[in-house]
Amino acid sequence: MEQIILELKNIHKSFDKNQIHKGVNLTLHPGESLGLLGGSGSGKSALLRSIIGLERVDQGEILFKGQRIDNLSENALTPYRIKISYSFQSGALFDSINVFENIAYPLFEHTKFSYLQIQDKVADMLKLIDLEGKQELMPSDLSGGMQKRVGMARSMILNPEIILYDEPTAGLDPANTLNVISLMQKLKKKGLASIFVTHDIPAAVSLCDRIVVLNQGIIAFNGNPEEFQNSENPIVQKFLTSFKE
Ligand SMILES: Nc1ncnc2c1ncn2[C@@H]1O[C@H](COP(=O)(O)OP(=O)(O)OP(=O)(O)O)[C@@H](O)[C@H]1O
Ligand SMILES: [Mg+2]
Repeated sequence: MEQIILELKNIHKSFDKNQIHKGVNLTLHPGESLGLLGGSGSGKSALLRSIIGLERVDQGEILFKGQRIDNLSENALTPYRIKISYSFQSGALFDSINVFENIAYPLFEHTKFSYLQIQDKVADMLKLIDLEGKQELMPSDLSGGMQKRVGMARSMILNPEIILYDEPTAGLDPANTLNVISLMQKLKKKGLASIFVTHDIPAAVSLCDRIVVLNQGIIAFNGNPEEFQNSENPIVQKFLTSFKE
């Protein structure tokens, strides 16, 4: 049987009278990179937040390896928030602490590793994000792209099985965008599954195994990048032409 690491079944979510999700169905397989596209306000970030329980869905089920997680208490959700890591749209570094402390924060919070072990883990992570030796710098000393990578390192430090990227390259210049994408590629090679929310179609096509489009509250397209680029689905066409313009 085909393995599924994360499954969204018939998700409905409204904010007051604003119905955002009207029956979203989605599956993510181990190691798979899934690109999630959709217009601004279509509910991409809200969907990621629902997956880790920062929003509660009105109807439907969210399953991690076959186990329901949408109805868990905040406390019961904690281990799943380690397995499913959310890399925030804003990067969300703590401004008053340095790079080392930012990356190490979840280790101090959730593990019993010694200080030396934590130093080793952070050093490995700094190597992975190409910021070796920068542990003493403050977030304000870093470029936007470096800040994003430090944020991603913090999301990765507890070895999640899934990472949810909310527009990781938004607002970055081309060089920094490439750096972030190359880090995402490295993490993919390590076997991490991911959902990549982006407006950057070429990045999604180059990185992802599958692309889905969220439109009017449902998944309007689901296929591999080649099927996406050749699709005659008018919603996909609208996306592709708006990007070419
Ligand atoms: N906590 C909230 N309370 C009320 N409305 C919300 C909340 N979160 C999201 N919304 C509304 O839900 C809709 C979807 O928002 P969401 O942030 O998920 O869109 P998005 O697809 O991520 O857009 P973008 O591409 O601009 O980031 C918007 O109309 C937004 O105003
Ligand atoms: Mg968003």
